[in-house]
Amino acid sequence: MSSRVTVEYDPELLALARRAKQVAVITGAGISSESGIPTFRGAGESGALWKNFRAEELATPQAFARDPELVWEWYDWRREICAASEPNKAHEVVAAMDAHYENFLLITQNVDNLHRRAGSRRLYEIHGNIFRGRCVQTGRSFDLPAPPLDPLPPRSPFADAPARPDIVWFGESYDQEMLGACLDFLAECELVFVIGTSGMVPIPIYLADHARKHGAVIVDVNPEVSGATEIAAHYWQGRAGDALPPFWEQI
Ligand code: OAD
Repeated sequence: MSSRVTVEYDPELLALARRAKQVAVITGAGISSESGIPTFRGAGESGALWKNFRAEELATPQAFARDPELVWEWYDWRREICAASEPNKAHEVVAAMDAHYENFLLITQNVDNLHRRAGSRRLYEIHGNIFRGRCVQTGRSFDLPAPPLDPLPPRSPFADAPARPDIVWFGESYDQEMLGACLDFLAECELVFVIGTSGMVPIPIYLADHARKHGAVIVDVNPEVSGATEIAAHYWQGRAGDALPPFWEQI
């Protein structure tokens, strides 16, 4: 006897996912929790405390100005965790969607690089990428060498200046051009999946709601009720790695 569980999804949603031409996925830390990367809040392997600091205390321009070495050490610790992790089944489904749909965009808040490693190609990393540094003088970004970094903090390869992580920190603004491109794309979407985000940082919910107002059907995938749940037409209460593969098999 097979132990396989047959999951029943809404037939209208399945039909929409089969015929859709323009689809987006918005992801947060939850999609990487099954890869062993701690989330910032909520269910999963949460509790991203390092030396008793919370992310909000280190991921700021003020923290960097005060103690760049401490901030770089924290990022080096996180970079080691990301480098040692593998993309999971949910990342793979998102990459399969990228390959399948004519018009597709992944908007991720994650800086862990796992979407790229899973094969996603059409993506915006709206919070940056932990494997890149940025010159504080020229603003140009560059690939960091493998962790542990030496010297730490690293210097810019472009100028006689320090480098910072290529991350959008608390209190900093988003790349407006990238955000505009996201909004334009979402306005034309038929279907948007919001996966593993709490909504405590409001941008993913704002983006998903923009798509909804322009006619997209929203699917929220999260073991816990999140900021996306109330705007979603479908709430799949569960882990991304459990909920997405059986759905995608039916497309
Ligand atoms: P959070 O840590 O705020 O939320 C993670 C969400 O993932 C929670 O709602 C969990 O319930 C959910 N979750 C946990 N395990 C899951 C699983 N297996 N499948 C699906 N969902 C799961 O993460 P974000 O919303 O991404 O910013 O946080 C936004 C930003 O806050 C981050 O990008 C980061 C942080 O400060 C920066 O570092 C700039």
